[in-house]
Amino acid sequence: MRVLSGIQPTGSLHLGNYLGAIRRWVKMQDEAECIFFLADLHAVTVYNDPAELRANVNGMAAALIACGIDPEKSLVFNHARVPAHPEMAWLLSCTARVGWLNRMTQFKEKSGKNREGASVGLYAYPILQAADVLLYQTTHVPVGEDQKQHLELCRDIATKFNADYGVELFTLPEPWIGESAARIMSLRDGTAKMSKSDPSDMSRINLVDDDDTIAQKIRKAKTDPEPLPDSVDDLAGRPEALNLVTIYAALTDRTPQSVTGEFAGKGFGAFKPALAELLVQTLSPIRARLNDFAADPAALDSILQQGARKAAEMAAPTLEGAYRALGLPRGI
Ligand code: ADP
Ligand code: TRP
Repeated sequence: MRVLSGIQPTGSLHLGNYLGAIRRWVKMQDEAECIFFLADLHAVTVYNDPAELRANVNGMAAALIACGIDPEKSLVFNHARVPAHPEMAWLLSCTARVGWLNRMTQFKEKSGKNREGASVGLYAYPILQAADVLLYQTTHVPVGEDQKQHLELCRDIATKFNADYGVELFTLPEPWIGESAARIMSLRDGTAKMSKSDPSDMSRINLVDDDDTIAQKIRKAKTDPEPLPDSVDDLAGRPEALNLVTIYAALTDRTPQSVTGEFAGKGFGAFKPALAELLVQTLSPIRARLNDFAADPAALDSILQQGARKAAEMAAPTLEGAYRALGLPRGI
């Protein structure tokens, strides 16, 4: 089983990203051979400030490793260092049909009313995504709702290429559902997702927050005067309380029900310090590793270079197979 996941290099990471996504990938390493890459060639389908993009790619890679993605065990790299990706994307763009791409709902959403003004890259990027997956004979791709259609397209492209050229070159990837991840809400409003785009920094816990900031954000988190009930069902209508219980449960790998069982009858005066301590215990080693990377950028660079070298090696046979199938001589 080989699992591949492309990750958008977004800005600073928060607890929602950690509990909702990164931790799932960390656990996946025990179950399958994993490939993680920063999708920086996807990022440039819309304008990005170049310095910011570079900082985000490096920051995200450092965060993944700091959170427990092990570059010795899993393949970690960024897209842009491995030319096999855009090369394969071109070959596959000759198999993909315009009608197939026209159906992609994400392009319609992202381009909005300005379709004519969107980049060709934004339109064609599901083909690059297919190349990402097919280059490595990936068997499983962890997909959220928003990526299901792109994975279907990837399978369609692979099937048509194999059929058109009479080869069995590409493995058809399956969606990987896995255990459902926790959804973490804002500390200021239990009905809104914790997000980097929330203007209030008090609404989220960032991976770079120091211990005092974490404790202060939990102390100030919105709650209600009621004590915790003994059943999680009784938290209905108390979204802020439910969110704190959910965070506690996710951090300890327990169910929210077992957390309410433990704290039943206690108020937030007792629960919040316990939660803050747990957060500090989890996040401070991650922050320490992030600081190490910040102090030594060459270390990260060398990990990504090494990853890219291995990725290029792994991708080569499939890429060469595609050239061969098409009747194209390759190289000089
Ligand atoms: P943001 O909402 O801060 O912009 P992104 O959209 O960049 O976050 O999300 C990156 C990854 O983190 C996605 O896989 C997403 O599902 C996960 N994620 C983001 N916010 C949360 C959250 N509040 N709870 C759970 N998972 C989240
Ligand atoms: N498009 C994905 C996203 O927006 C990122 C991505 C790029 C990806 N290539 C991939 C995901 C390959 C899975 C497989 O999040």
